[in-house]
Amino acid sequence: MVSAAQPQPASATDASRTFPAGFLWGSATAAYQIEGAAAKNGRTPSIWDTYARTPGRVRNGDTGDIATDHYHRRREDVALMADLGIGAYRFSLAWPRIQPTGRGPAVQMGLDFYRRLVDELLDAGIQPVATLYHWDLPQELEDAGGWPERATAERFAAYAALAADALGDRVKTWTTLNEPWCSAFLGYGSGVHAPGRTDPVAALRAAHHLNLAHGLAVQALRDRIPADAKCSVALNVHHVRPLTGSEADGDAARRIDALANRVFTGPMLHGGYPQDLVEDTAALTDWSYVRDGDLALIHQPLDFLGVNYYTPTLVSGADGDGSPTSYGHGGDRTPWPAADGVAFHQSPGDTTAMGWAVDPTGLYDLLRRLSSEFPRLPLVITENGAAFDDYADPAGHVNDAARIAYLRGHLAAVHRAIEDGADVRGYFLWSLLDNFEWAHGYSKRFGLVYVDYPTGTRTPKASARWYAEVARTGVLPGA
Ligand code: FCB
Repeated sequence: MVSAAQPQPASATDASRTFPAGFLWGSATAAYQIEGAAAKNGRTPSIWDTYARTPGRVRNGDTGDIATDHYHRRREDVALMADLGIGAYRFSLAWPRIQPTGRGPAVQMGLDFYRRLVDELLDAGIQPVATLYHWDLPQELEDAGGWPERATAERFAAYAALAADALGDRVKTWTTLNEPWCSAFLGYGSGVHAPGRTDPVAALRAAHHLNLAHGLAVQALRDRIPADAKCSVALNVHHVRPLTGSEADGDAARRIDALANRVFTGPMLHGGYPQDLVEDTAALTDWSYVRDGDLALIHQPLDFLGVNYYTPTLVSGADGDGSPTSYGHGGDRTPWPAADGVAFHQSPGDTTAMGWAVDPTGLYDLLRRLSSEFPRLPLVITENGAAFDDYADPAGHVNDAARIAYLRGHLAAVHRAIEDGADVRGYFLWSLLDNFEWAHGYSKRFGLVYVDYPTGTRTPKASARWYAEVARTGVLPGA
């Protein structure tokens, strides 16, 4: 999404705000980031296991082998959510736990873990929201070519069917892919995510096959789940801002909007790839891997769009002012194919421990733009949150005032967007627990709950108590 104009100051947070009745208050996690038990009960390596074990890829050589040990502490974590009064829990299924080679029948012990989790959630009155793919492709499928190959999308549809057969009677809300942009462009473009390839054409092919995987999975789900169950996808829709009003900066923002957002929203929600994207990438690819019928398969009706938002993206054209900070997502290779001459800049404002600018106006603008582009599609914030350098004080308290301020500002922005007409149905805070933050390993803490990694001990932070109160009352208190 491209927006003109400069970032504005954060919304005023003086008055209390009441959210609509039925607004869903949730928290989110992902399998590889929390489960651990990497080799238990038949699970085989995913691309993230392989990547994390490759020296130099992940900070401190951290892996998800143990993570927060959620696999063994599942009950405790559900009890924690119940205690906090969280209404919905977005988690992901580990494909290599359910279908270790990426093909063939399901491993019952793998499915049992999720059956139990879902039963316990339902018993606690927490709505389960399952994501089929949060980046843990079975390594065997990467060895056979990975997401740049069409067969991977077909394999994904078969896996979706296994998951729906096992859980479709109890899970009423499904998300196919989490942030396919990261899978395609960080995984195959800049290589800062697994599997770590640096090939722009592979990244574009991966984007198409992820789109296809989404469409095929929605079909597989719809064939198996009750008519009132919901299907969606979670996109990290970038809120792209041009540095100035110049033509060059506007064109840079348009190009990044195409490569970040419209490469997915185009086929998924409009039924075609944007013409400007096809033209911008013409020197790299003729898109001939898009076969007849693919666009209709990808363009499935969705019940809502999942939006993951952390910070806006500020870009300029080659002749723009200011010094570029990076390629926008770390690493020394660009994730953006065909975006030579686009410079990325640090957005103004305070930053989180990720170095990301805190700017709730980006979320407000994004929600407004999405609701005007897709007026009949409800929106759910499937991720929003912040990492800070949290620590437990000698009394064992974690006083994360900066996270509370971040959440307050972003929830105020969501509330304002709703008041101004955006149909936002829920908010999932990233994350329930401190966890394995991909290439940053355990160095970045996003949790509402502090995890002492050596012991696995969980301590709700001040933000957890604050969020519990917001979830319980549906009211965002004034500052
Ligand atoms: C998102 C990912 C999630 C987490 C947050 C901080 O891009 O979906 O797993 O790492 O960022």
